[in-house]
Amino acid sequence: MRLTVIGTGYLGAVHAACMAAIGHDVLGVDTDTEKITALAEGRPPFYEPGLDEVLTQGLASGNLRFTTRLNEAAAHGEVHFICVGTPQQAGSRAADLRYVDSVVNGLVPHLRSSCLVVGKSTVPVGTTERLTEHVANLAPPGVRAEVAWNPEFLREGYAVEDTLRPDRIVTGVNSSQADETLRRVYAPMLSAGVPYISTDPNTAELVKVAANSFLATKISFINAMAEVCDAAGADVVTLADAIGHDTRIGRRFLNAGVGFGGGCLPKDIRAFAARAQELGAGPAVAFLDQVDEINGRQRTRTVALARRMAGGDLTGRSVAVLGATFKPDSDDVRDSPALAIAAALREEGADVRVHDPEGTANAALAHPELYCETDVLTACQNAELVLHLTEWAQYRELDPVKLSRVVRVPVLIDGRNALAHDEWRSAGWTVKALGRSA
Ligand code: UGA
Repeated sequence: MRLTVIGTGYLGAVHAACMAAIGHDVLGVDTDTEKITALAEGRPPFYEPGLDEVLTQGLASGNLRFTTRLNEAAAHGEVHFICVGTPQQAGSRAADLRYVDSVVNGLVPHLRSSCLVVGKSTVPVGTTERLTEHVANLAPPGVRAEVAWNPEFLREGYAVEDTLRPDRIVTGVNSSQADETLRRVYAPMLSAGVPYISTDPNTAELVKVAANSFLATKISFINAMAEVCDAAGADVVTLADAIGHDTRIGRRFLNAGVGFGGGCLPKDIRAFAARAQELGAGPAVAFLDQVDEINGRQRTRTVALARRMAGGDLTGRSVAVLGATFKPDSDDVRDSPALAIAAALREEGADVRVHDPEGTANAALAHPELYCETDVLTACQNAELVLHLTEWAQYRELDPVKLSRVVRVPVLIDGRNALAHDEWRSAGWTVKALGRSA
């Protein structure tokens, strides 16, 4: 099928390359010339494991091309996927839909034949309904463009795997024709047995924000337990292991630490709360404000712990921060707890050096006041305090004995509860962590 994928960020670039990999004729579109040039040359504009392979494969097969021109896209696609960002609006909790609207306004007047416009971006419930009317007004005479929503559940770091082998596909459609079209797009996944849920657009849009809200709530729940553990002198990791054995609860997404970040969970729960309020259902999701608050508190609790370990004052203290991205296997620093904590420590006068295997370029752009190092040992040189804030695999492989000889004072705060504390303690380190009676 001839598909266009409009918006080639984390979601769109992966979607475009993966749709080409399953045999579609794909045109990727973005207004960012630099990004399009890089993609067309087979260079992913961000770090995502496995993306370079599918991208190169797609370009070589001729199934995948890129352009900056929406009118070219309008001529190409039987199905147009909208994959642009829906960030948080400045000064509000609501989502900013200007990029979605501008794609629709730029694309639809150029359409030459009937097609399906499919949103994948995370949007407030009711967006398909609103766009359906708008698209009908914008479409040239004789052209029928139907709107559907097909939320995406990929995780950064596993984006290619999640797109090629999703745990479910959800589509929100208004007609059996749209349903059939989307079933044809995803035919290889359907024949591989991937659960396929075809529903109305409102439900599909809500599924996405409900899923992310549940995940955020699960993380904040365990972080709330970590706070109680600290107050009571108990251990949150043992608690998570113990409750996680109940399959109704499950151990995944119960890792206590500095909390969640990234371009999705934080803004999605805020946008959901704002939209629910508009709909008169604000009280039903008022708990999401608490989820957000608990999440933010883990950052301030970590800074307070660092201050305590520094004897009450961070001024002039040499601090190494391991990790800048919001999670491992990504170069994304959007709303990253690690970077927010590093910036707060700097704000309190500490001499902060940040290490990250992939995120230092983005970290330096977001926080030019921080020193970013590409070598862990250099970052830790003469440190009086080391904070482990993003759980990259390479940090678990650090030799605590070797590192203890590099730092000035061997004190570790494990903000992800991911290092082998006993080993570090045996190597002479003082190890502290939230939720572990720190
Ligand atoms: C999240 C969802 O997991 C995806 O299903 C969804 O498609 C995506 O948002 C999206 O809406 O696009 P992602 O933002 O890539 O994916 O990251 P997650 O793996 O969900 O992690 C989010 C944050 O939670 C990270 O900062 C991570 O470190 C933190 N986290 C995760 C914890 O603090 N504890 C945990 O137990 C798990």
